[in-house]
Amino acid sequence: MVDVTVHDSAEAAAIDVAESIRDHVASCVANATACRLGLATGGTPLPVYRHLIEMVTAGKMSFHDVVTFNLDEYIGLTSSHPHSYHAYMRSHLFDAVGLDASRTHLPLGSADDPDAEAARYESTLIASGGVTMQLLGIGRNGHIGFNEPGSEHDSVTRVVDLADSTIAANARYFDDPANVPRQAITMGIGTILRSHEIILMATGASKADAIRGAIRGPVEPSNPASSLQTHAHVRWVLDTEAASKL
Ligand code: PGA
Repeated sequence: MVDVTVHDSAEAAAIDVAESIRDHVASCVANATACRLGLATGGTPLPVYRHLIEMVTAGKMSFHDVVTFNLDEYIGLTSSHPHSYHAYMRSHLFDAVGLDASRTHLPLGSADDPDAEAARYESTLIASGGVTMQLLGIGRNGHIGFNEPGSEHDSVTRVVDLADSTIAANARYFDDPANVPRQAITMGIGTILRSHEIILMATGASKADAIRGAIRGPVEPSNPASSLQTHAHVRWVLDTEAASKL
């Protein structure tokens, strides 16, 4: 049984996701269990982070007991580079909700040995006990994290080449398209599938084909998000446009 919620607007989808994260954190606190959130970057989660900040500001939730692990980071950008995902997370969530660097984890894109850094990240994640709730977006080509088509469904955190379509999609964030990184360190699909719960959020017509393939298509490496069909606790939170081809 696929757990799909379709909202009238992207804003309503974002509120749903933010409330799910709030409720997850509350249940961790109530049960005195550790709360380890897996977080995503890109355009889709921005309104989710805005709502989480509002909830914290209003005293309706706290990140005091939360540890975070991000999906990925560009290779070649330092954590202070304005287009790094470190910087994205600080400016869109961490600073405003009081999550300091000791409780947040991202792969280090400027590591001298990116392969060793990927292995370190995977080990840190395993040693922590694993992500309890993972937030995912989806690429137009079906990627999750930076697991591009062809990624094995049991892959772990590693160095990857970005697809040309991903580089093109990300160029909007860079002044000069020539500066868009071409490699990243990403959690693998197998890494993502170890998360206890997953929420995949997608909004807009440009994601409709990817969502259809992910939910209705065959489970195969050509479609990274189809791997989620093998996970028992995935919730798909969509707007009507992203759901329009289901
Ligand atoms: P987007 O990216 O939210 O910016 O569309 C999603 C993704 O590529 O995973």
